[in-house]
Amino acid sequence: MSHASGHPLTATASGPLTGAAHVPGDKSISHRSLILGAMAVGETRITGLLEGQDVLDTGAAMRAFGASVEKAGEEWVVRGVGVGGLMEPEDVIDCGNSGTGVRLLMGAAATHGFSVTYTGDASLRKRPMARVTEPLSLFGAAAYGRSGGRLPMTVVGAGDPVPVRYATPVASAQVKSAVLLAGLNAPGETVVIEREATRDHSERMLRGFGAEIDVRRTAEGHEITLVGRPELSPQTIAVPRDPSSAAFPVCAALIVPGSDVLVPNIGLNPTRAGLFETLREMGADLTYENPREEGGEPAADLRARFSPDMHGIEVPPDRAASMIDEYPILSVVAANAAGTTVMRGVAELRVKECDRIDAMVQGLRGCGVAVRDGPDWWEVDGRGPGGVPGGAMVAVHLDHRIAMSFLVAGMAAREAVTVDDAGPIATSFPIFRALMERLGAAFEERGS
Ligand code: S3P
Repeated sequence: MSHASGHPLTATASGPLTGAAHVPGDKSISHRSLILGAMAVGETRITGLLEGQDVLDTGAAMRAFGASVEKAGEEWVVRGVGVGGLMEPEDVIDCGNSGTGVRLLMGAAATHGFSVTYTGDASLRKRPMARVTEPLSLFGAAAYGRSGGRLPMTVVGAGDPVPVRYATPVASAQVKSAVLLAGLNAPGETVVIEREATRDHSERMLRGFGAEIDVRRTAEGHEITLVGRPELSPQTIAVPRDPSSAAFPVCAALIVPGSDVLVPNIGLNPTRAGLFETLREMGADLTYENPREEGGEPAADLRARFSPDMHGIEVPPDRAASMIDEYPILSVVAANAAGTTVMRGVAELRVKECDRIDAMVQGLRGCGVAVRDGPDWWEVDGRGPGGVPGGAMVAVHLDHRIAMSFLVAGMAAREAVTVDDAGPIATSFPIFRALMERLGAAFEERGS
């Protein structure tokens, strides 16, 4: 299927991929840098910000809330308005494709006494928002959206917010972060309890901006306590490169014969690094060079070489949160490995930018790979190195990671793979095509 408005792109069999892949800044940290910068008093300076559409949309939103967000040379400068100082936007806030953007903004604004209407693109308007508006209602906010808790949605903020104690029912850093950001402008202690650890950038960055935040392990999981109404001090932030973007050149190198790719300076925060552990268990020739600490987080240069001896594994379900965005590209590696790869405990994949299990199942089947799935699991029968027939036109459903995954699949398949729309790649990895071409990948625009 092809969208009339999409930009189809074809990846053909690639020669060896070689060289260094400098991937862009981390998307999660970029969103949070802009939001927390806008809630600090004074000037936050950010280098390495991801200039993908998702993050640019969050920057525009922070301007609409009253902060100044400008690019000055290589730096982004945010002049914040202080906790409690956000202003009512004059127009609808359009978060484009970004679930992280809209959910974090809803949280940050929900404890201010004004109303905000949010919307997004056709993908974001299908995604569930009740997971965020339910805890926000405990602070005193109220949300009015389309049926099923979908955008467009107006959130009437709490003028006199009360702090909240909330156990997240799904493993979601977006939900956790929305509650913590709302808690910033509530008096007293806001507590979030999560059973499974999700990415902890909000906790680390809130502490970095000077908030009092305590994380304790308890019988229930992690208990995060934030003291409300802090004065946040502006920061100088060097955004690390995104491990979720690094996943694409790394996985491409593992499956394209003769490849040897270095992906420098990737954060290996354990809440994000699950894919790399999984690949190593599958027999990938993936090494961490130069291991070091960057801004208090483990980091290394990743070196990935063609790995003809990879085998399928059962991915431990308790690792899902630390690699939730990486299952699509993992399934492409699995298709090029020997044996079956089983992925369980991943129902959350069904509510991402699209239903990622369904999109990958349909696309992989189109490429000649046997795949089975259920509500919260799927498994891929590997065809061994170079064994994927390819030759498919794949629908990406406005999902950047589905588009990049199938373009990587095409680099190692016997016949070219076309995605019906490469446009969404610009949300998180605008330089994907140029970067992969420099390594040796071959793309064609064959028209729709
Ligand atoms: C993100 C959290 C994850 C992830 C998303 C970014 C974040 O979503 O999929 O790409 O920055 O907090 P969930 O929290 O919904 O799992």
